[in-house]
Amino acid sequence: MRSTIVAGNWKMHLDVAAARTLAGAVSAHVRSAALPPQVGVVLCPPAPLLAAVIDEVRDTSIGVGAQNMHAADSGAYTGETSAGMLLSLGCTHVILGHSERRQYFHESDQLVNGKLLQALRQGLRPIVCIGETLEQRETGITQPVLEIQLRESLAGISAEELRGVILAYEPVWAIGTGRTATPEQAQEAHAFIRSVLADMSDSDTAAHMVIQYGGSVKADNAAELFAQPDVDGGLVGGASLDATAFAAIIDAAR
Ligand code: PGA
Repeated sequence: MRSTIVAGNWKMHLDVAAARTLAGAVSAHVRSAALPPQVGVVLCPPAPLLAAVIDEVRDTSIGVGAQNMHAADSGAYTGETSAGMLLSLGCTHVILGHSERRQYFHESDQLVNGKLLQALRQGLRPIVCIGETLEQRETGITQPVLEIQLRESLAGISAEELRGVILAYEPVWAIGTGRTATPEQAQEAHAFIRSVLADMSDSDTAAHMVIQYGGSVKADNAAELFAQPDVDGGLVGGASLDATAFAAIIDAAR
């Protein structure tokens, strides 16, 4: 049985004190909720807040991920963070290729692929984001866009490694807009993604892979989205900054 993973992407919000408060509240919820083992929770705060969050979630099953990393082991890359640094802090996950990284920082599928290979080599569990823009959806090229992103971002990854990769389908038009994909639109895209993954590896590998939905997931739409057969939890932005809303989204994954 596949896991269902709910990850909170805090983007560039909060400070150390607010991060401690929010992570503490999520930890308290996860402790009392007695989640089944197939439901995972991950918090992805901004890099300077990782240590505080890792401290707050200790002794829980909550994973902690960075929102980005560099592909190199180390070097003259001012402002960047390596996988080794994240691991030494106690991070378990890393988001790669988020649409905001692709849009504002010009990250290509090739760049994402380099980071993914490094994350897997080093032992961080990657959450790789893909998704079409509104223009691409309206011109009917959603599937070819997703297929190119998958094939290029996941190039050179073995079937065994693929099983550890979490994918996040995040239609760009649904991110931070309040406009969520309908459960049917999400399911259609997820089933397509899983079929491409099967073609890239094999159907058993594809069936084991976690594919999250992201884009305006809220407390009141999470259950319906997560109930779709190929939707394995969510990558949650805005609603992950509210402890009560995020707790309700975690509960929707049960
Ligand atoms: P949102 O963001 O939930 O605020 O739409 C999702 C994301 O960007 O991962």
